Amino acid sequence: MQRMIGVIGGSGVYDMEGLEQAEWQAVETPWGAPSDEILTGRLGGRGRLGGRPIAFLPRHGRGHVHSPTDVPYRANIDALKRLGCTDILSVSACGSFRQELAPGDFVIVSDFIDRTVAREKSFFGAGCVAHVSVAHPICGRLGDMAEAAARTAGVTCHRGGTYLAMEGPQFSSMAESKMYREAWGADVIGMTNMPEAKLAREAELCYASVAMITDYDSWHPEHGSVQITEIIATLQANADNARSLVRALADQEAEASPCPHGCDRALEHAILTAPDRR
Ligand code: ADE
Repeated sequence: MQRMIGVIGGSGVYDMEGLEQAEWQAVETPWGAPSDEILTGRLGGRGRLGGRPIAFLPRHGRGHVHSPTDVPYRANIDALKRLGCTDILSVSACGSFRQELAPGDFVIVSDFIDRTVAREKSFFGAGCVAHVSVAHPICGRLGDMAEAAARTAGVTCHRGGTYLAMEGPQFSSMAESKMYREAWGADVIGMTNMPEAKLAREAELCYASVAMITDYDSWHPEHGSVQITEIIATLQANADNARSLVRALADQEAEASPCPHGCDRALEHAILTAPDRR
């Protein structure tokens, strides 16, 4: 099976330039409409087959109309799967809890702490109960590919880091920021990768996340509290780097199925409801 990457772009990443056969498509799902139309086309790719099929979805919609709580996460994941995506790469603006993870740097996330409280987190529940494992929520193979693409794109990139997903929309207090960093060992903070990563696993899609650092959140003694103006100042450069990363990713050799980490078989032993009751 040919693999296809779906890119979910966070704040500042609302478009993906340079696609051949580019087309914005409306996709309907049983979970409602996704955040926006989805841009499909072909990108990069070497050899006689030309560009690789790719899909791009702006998580907050063009014009930034969905708050982190209101993003239709289930529709987004389902719509990308319906378009044929096997892999999902998230690129999102994040705060940093570490001195060495500086604004402008990219972090290939390796794990999550989910502190979100007001979102639909599962495709399952009513009439069909499933418990998938998210012990390792990131696909190692897609993470490797994202890291290699970031290095090809010339971005300062750190491999591994725990992403704390907060509800928002307000930023953290200083006490929360220090607790996440010192007591909980989180490395970066954002408002959107959960439940996205959990839903991707339920949909048996490979998922990896690139945290694009925009600020030091509220803990840093020399940086004061996080302000949206500071974030926006870094967003533009980060967005250009994100597009270069995605182009480098599309240039990589297409990997074959199945996923070596089993992301595409996550439901194999996860559904508890008897087949005749589903
Ligand atoms: N997105 C960018 N910076 C952030 C921060 N400090 N906290 C939560 N989300 C963010």
